[in-house]
Amino acid sequence: MNGLFSITGKVAVITGAGGVLGGSIARHFVTQGAKVAALDIRQEPLDARVAELHALGGDAIGIVGNVLDMESLRQVADVVAARWGQVDILLNIAGGNLPGATLGVEQPFHEMKIADWEKVTTLNLNGTVYPCMIFGKMMAERRSGAIVNVSSMAAYAALTRVPGYSVAKTGISNFTQWLATEMALKYGDGIRVNAIAPGFFIGDQNRSVLINPDGSLTDRSLKIIAKTPMKRFGDIAELNGAVQFLCSDAARFVTGVILPVDGGFSAFSGV
Ligand SMILES: NC(=O)c1ccc[n+]([C@@H]2O[C@H](COP(=O)([O-])OP(=O)(O)OC[C@H]3O[C@@H](n4cnc5c(N)ncnc54)[C@H](OP(=O)(O)O)[C@@H]3O)[C@@H](O)[C@H]2O)c1
Repeated sequence: MNGLFSITGKVAVITGAGGVLGGSIARHFVTQGAKVAALDIRQEPLDARVAELHALGGDAIGIVGNVLDMESLRQVADVVAARWGQVDILLNIAGGNLPGATLGVEQPFHEMKIADWEKVTTLNLNGTVYPCMIFGKMMAERRSGAIVNVSSMAAYAALTRVPGYSVAKTGISNFTQWLATEMALKYGDGIRVNAIAPGFFIGDQNRSVLINPDGSLTDRSLKIIAKTPMKRFGDIAELNGAVQFLCSDAARFVTGVILPVDGGFSAFSGV
């Protein structure tokens, strides 16, 4: 049974590996015996991440790259190919909301800053599509691979204040289904494309809208917990198993799926 879920020996490219979720998944992947190419835009968090992965006994390299720059991604692909010859798994983790793209509680939509809208939609959507083009090509050549994208609860029903993030994540869900279909129709059943849709996890990007300066829950947090049947926020490590499943042979007939990991948030009407 364990073999069915194994990712041992697989080469995984993880974008945004210097961040919170990318770090959690990268640590999990090396402990499961995967080889990790950690990609991030800044050298410093990447160096810290790679040192951490090596300390865990992992086979890992860090490569500075920009998920919004095709030439940069091509260079990353060359480094990975030179090191391991192939890519088995692509995890598109770089992304997230940006403070400037969150509307204030009373701020009218028509005052939204266009520059912030463009940043957040581009980073999340294009920052997923471009790596799929570069690493998906390597997978198509071998007719083998698994891609996991990161959607969100914002793609299921409207979340107030985060229009750009919501639109981009909805785009990621749709693109996941589109690319799953494209890959299977053109290259057969060896390439699968899925997404996770995390519920609510307290991270650096959303801490200020979920936790008051005195440590208590904000009104927004109280609404989230009220609509989460499990009555708590998630722990970021609770995403690891879902990602591993989607990358493993256990999911070999699973493609085009957006898997909620949300304590029941998306299942519950709130009534
Ligand atoms: N944390 C949560 O609670 C939560 C919940 C649901 C979903 N998610 C999703 O999980 C994903 C990761 O979130 P996170 O909390 O781990 O975010 P994070 O800690 O900010 O990590 C994202 C990483 O990506 C890097 N990055 C930004 N732009 C990049 C680019 N153009 N090319 C390459 N790397 C780039 C960031 O670098 P900089 O720091 O320099 O910008 C950062 O190191 C996002 O898609 C987010 O929407 C997170």
